[in-house]
Amino acid sequence: MTTTNRRYHITTFGCQMNKADSERMAGILEDMGFEWSEDPNDANVILYNTCTIRDNAEQKVYSYLGRQAKRKHEQPDLTLVVAGCVAQQEGEQLLRRVPELDLVMGPQHANHLQDLLQQVFDGNQVVATEAIHIMEDITKPRRDSNVTAWVNVIYGCNERCTYCVVPNVRGVEQSRTPEAIRAEMEELGRQGYREVTLLGQNIDAYGRDLPGVTESGRHKQTLTDLLYYVHDVPGIERIRFATSHPRYFTERLIKACAELPKVCEHFHIPFQSGDNDILKAMSRGYTTEKYRRIIETVRSYMPDASISADAIVGFPGETEEQFQNTLKLVEDIGFDLLNTAAYSPRPGTPAALWEHQLSEEVKSDRLQRLNHLVSTQAIEASQRYFERVEEVLVEEQNLKDPTQVMGRTRGNRLTFFAGDINELIGQLVRVKITEVRAFSLTGERVDIREVQPV
Ligand code: SAH
Ligand code: SF4
Ligand code: F3S
Repeated sequence: MTTTNRRYHITTFGCQMNKADSERMAGILEDMGFEWSEDPNDANVILYNTCTIRDNAEQKVYSYLGRQAKRKHEQPDLTLVVAGCVAQQEGEQLLRRVPELDLVMGPQHANHLQDLLQQVFDGNQVVATEAIHIMEDITKPRRDSNVTAWVNVIYGCNERCTYCVVPNVRGVEQSRTPEAIRAEMEELGRQGYREVTLLGQNIDAYGRDLPGVTESGRHKQTLTDLLYYVHDVPGIERIRFATSHPRYFTERLIKACAELPKVCEHFHIPFQSGDNDILKAMSRGYTTEKYRRIIETVRSYMPDASISADAIVGFPGETEEQFQNTLKLVEDIGFDLLNTAAYSPRPGTPAALWEHQLSEEVKSDRLQRLNHLVSTQAIEASQRYFERVEEVLVEEQNLKDPTQVMGRTRGNRLTFFAGDINELIGQLVRVKITEVRAFSLTGERVDIREVQPV
């Protein structure tokens, strides 16, 4: 590789964990002297950070890869990297499928990108997928936003939901220490960031692998304790966390969220199915009754809380009646946002091997019916914001209308209003809502909330 042309491009698929990993890998590449290239065709290091949660996510990666692999025949100094969950799942097999690849690296190796690339530049084809202890990140991520930031708190997942590849590809739970998390947040506060989303696939598991128990036998460090520990970081005005697991979601946590002003009233608690037998077959470890109780408790402490979730339709053996139970749950709860998916059998997961797999027709019919219900409900849920004053943290210009800025409410609704981005970026603006749509709002600026300088 020549030193004159050092440009990199990263395309990220999948969840927030992958986005956070990509930002750290971009930071490493910039430390190595590479510059970002928006166009992959102008880059000489191309990294795909991949997702394998469903088959269509995986197939997308192969079609992107195919194009760049061809380019490599004309431009042999191009370095092609596959990182993330497909890399972890496929390992060496990816090299057989796409021999043009230089580096295949699982998500646990993200922080080692520099060493791995060095091996590639020394002439090796490298596969890094062995399970390792994730080292503390000492690099500086290149974050996409200057206002909101992801902060990992726990990697991996020890659950074994029968449909899910995540434990296979992300490994066992590894919590970061509260001190490391707070230090990262303090640095973000000094850099002018205003909002932090704490990340984990099962964030309620935070701390159970850290040493220490209290006198009552509880782990010393739980997510609740972490929130109390980080909530006063200077400069950070908003804290969110995701993803919550209904099995571990405690009233103690709900109370903390209600009590701590910076913690937003916004909860992402996937239920996956509204039927108890399906939940059991999924090994989720809770019932729909328990899920309903959690939501009731959240709403009793925070009546206006915004609730989002994920659901799967067409799990093996799901009957029409069981699917109706999912519709019923959705109807009863009234979600602000619901991510829906048709069940996709994944390699290495128990449910993929079961009989009674449903046809694609049945799955897509159920998905459509659920999506229809979700969009009508989202419009209803949005109505409550009409003519209210909401606090919006301004993130960027509205790309479709440069006279407007875009931000989010505490409940995570996208909100647009007239204003100058240079004046308003990173400000907490009180906005009167004048128009509501299913997933976004429009309003008028009322005033700006003063925040303590850091
Ligand atoms: N840790 C989170 C979910 C992570 S995966 C939790 O426990 O809820 C994100 C979402 O993808 C899941 O919530 C689920 O709705 C969906 N998903 C996971 N595996 C899937 C599969 N095999 N088929 C369809 N959707 C799936
Ligand atoms: Fe997958 Fe279940 Fe872990 Fe979520 S909790 S990542 S669905 S195994
Ligand atoms: Fe996909 Fe991996 Fe996230 S499989 S959803 S990118 S943990």
